[in-house]
Amino acid sequence: MLANKRILLIISGGIAAFKAVDLVRLLMKRGASVKVILTEAATHFVSPLTLSTLTGEPVLTELFDLTRESEIGHIELSRDADLLVVAPATANLLAKMANGIADDLASTALLATDKQVLVAPAMNVRMYLHPATQRNLETLASDGIRVIGPDHGMMACNEEGPGRMSEPEDILAAIAALLDGTAKPLAGKHVIITAGPTHEPIDPVRYIANRSSGKQGYALAEAARAAGARVTLVSGPVALDVPLGVDVVRVETAAEMHAAVAKALPADVAIMAAAVADWRVANQGTEKIKKTPEGGFPALAFAENPDIAKFVGTHPDKRPTLVIGFAAETQDLEKNAGAKLTKKNVDWIIANDVSPETGIMGGDHNRISIIRADGIETWQDLPKADVAKGLVARIALALDESA
Ligand code: C5P
Repeated sequence: MLANKRILLIISGGIAAFKAVDLVRLLMKRGASVKVILTEAATHFVSPLTLSTLTGEPVLTELFDLTRESEIGHIELSRDADLLVVAPATANLLAKMANGIADDLASTALLATDKQVLVAPAMNVRMYLHPATQRNLETLASDGIRVIGPDHGMMACNEEGPGRMSEPEDILAAIAALLDGTAKPLAGKHVIITAGPTHEPIDPVRYIANRSSGKQGYALAEAARAAGARVTLVSGPVALDVPLGVDVVRVETAAEMHAAVAKALPADVAIMAAAVADWRVANQGTEKIKKTPEGGFPALAFAENPDIAKFVGTHPDKRPTLVIGFAAETQDLEKNAGAKLTKKNVDWIIANDVSPETGIMGGDHNRISIIRADGIETWQDLPKADVAKGLVARIALALDESA
């Protein structure tokens, strides 16, 4: 995916510098060649030896490293690369970049380059929110510098808020997108997505439903299509436009959704974003059920619906490489969602809190956690379209890894 791409990674001094080691590993694994510059402060957080061992290249720390200077010089160094990445980018280094200050190797390379630059800020919440930092970030954005993150969360300094460096996987996905903006990482892949609610009839005019809007599933369909996939969207009744180029199969009930998914297999990826009704009415009226004059109520009997995610996750011969379930919970989010990984034999569970006060159900934003057998990752609150793009980038990486 990044074969033969040359990345100049600049690590500035902050506790997040240790995550840059993971980033180097991820880049190398995908065939990139990585040269590293450490600022003076960064050498207190990660050792040049670790990084030179990983990259197989000398790690540069001093502007006046004379041997290096005579070999290539800092100008060539930064022009030699396909992309410059600053991760973590401290408030101090961002300030220097925004003001054209070049007083060490890192800032000099950044000023001398004619290549694209991606920065991943990481700092204390107050430093990040300070008007000076915000002003600098605006300047950098208007200079054409790309910014990823920071994430929101608990930080090493025990304060919570924006300031955590983006996860290495996300920085990797941003690098891949920048180096090949036209890349279609899901080209040739078939992705099945279920979305929306199901309607379970009580009689010909009444049904049981839920509040799912289908927005997250439709956003995923659009993002997967934009990434080059052939997308089959199996959709319950929703009031949304089908994204261009997506094949839609409209269904009403869980049973119909199950049949449509079975028919759409095989696929490389299945994303089960629908809010499937757990039960259907077993004694459906064939005629509209009449009010009883003496004020009684009809007795509804229920039957269990097929679990479509489990059907796909445990399919004996057509299980997609990656099966992703959703978990809409209102309590004990991670515990309940985690249990579904094994129960349905899915690879990831995307958990979100659908308590009414979050406004997630039916809303345009989502705050998700990705639960995998090896850990949990929580994203910040994002527009559903951005959640979809982020997940599609992750899916592309996972498929690439399993290839
Ligand atoms: O068990 P629960 O309904 O909470 O699991 C949610 C996940 O399972 C979602 O991915 C949903 O689309 C899927 N599911 C399904 N068929 C069902 C019930 C849930 O595919 N009958």
